[in-house]
Amino acid sequence: MSNESIKAVASASDRAFALSKALQEQALIPEGYVEKFTEIMENDFDPANGARVVARAWVDPAYRELLLRDGTAACDQFGYTGAQGEYIVALQNTPTLQNVIVCTLCSCTAWPVLGLPPDWYKSFEYRSRVVRESRTVLREMGLDLPNEVEIRVWDTSAETRYMVLPLRPSGTEGWTEAQLASIVTKDVLIGIARPEVPTTGTPPQ
Ligand SMILES: [Fe+2]
Repeated sequence: MSNESIKAVASASDRAFALSKALQEQALIPEGYVEKFTEIMENDFDPANGARVVARAWVDPAYRELLLRDGTAACDQFGYTGAQGEYIVALQNTPTLQNVIVCTLCSCTAWPVLGLPPDWYKSFEYRSRVVRESRTVLREMGLDLPNEVEIRVWDTSAETRYMVLPLRPSGTEGWTEAQLASIVTKDVLIGIARPEVPTTGTPPQ
């Protein structure tokens, strides 16, 4: 295939429209399926879900133990189940270990707890470079780790979906679960950032 023929491929939206039209013409899309799926994507699959899981693990040792032993069951306690969340594995950070998630093949994430992947997560650059020069990539993304912290990169597979369980930052003693969850972002759950306590030291409202 020449470069010219690659450039001639229709845009993603045009291809999606053509595919949708073909499926509809053959009655292969059940009534309301696309609308329901869109609603789930927009409302149910949210990194705030993963943040609640992390916050619970920070305050409840038994839940933490369950999360590390059977991440799927722990997420299911909140009702965070569904497509791309059939087998969730939580990766525990320690003072000397930072876990990072990638899907070198495409863009897989644990949708029910992380939401859809960010654009950068899907980029060829991130997928290739985070594997072979993870420390540099994390530094470029704002996480400058000391050399004594090992970085472990986990490649998502078709079955296994990961979430990072970060360290609870000091200065969060006495915070509620909701306050703790508010500092756990999608980037934190992927492992390219750590939870940050507001410089004022007061918990978010
Ligand atoms: Fe993927």
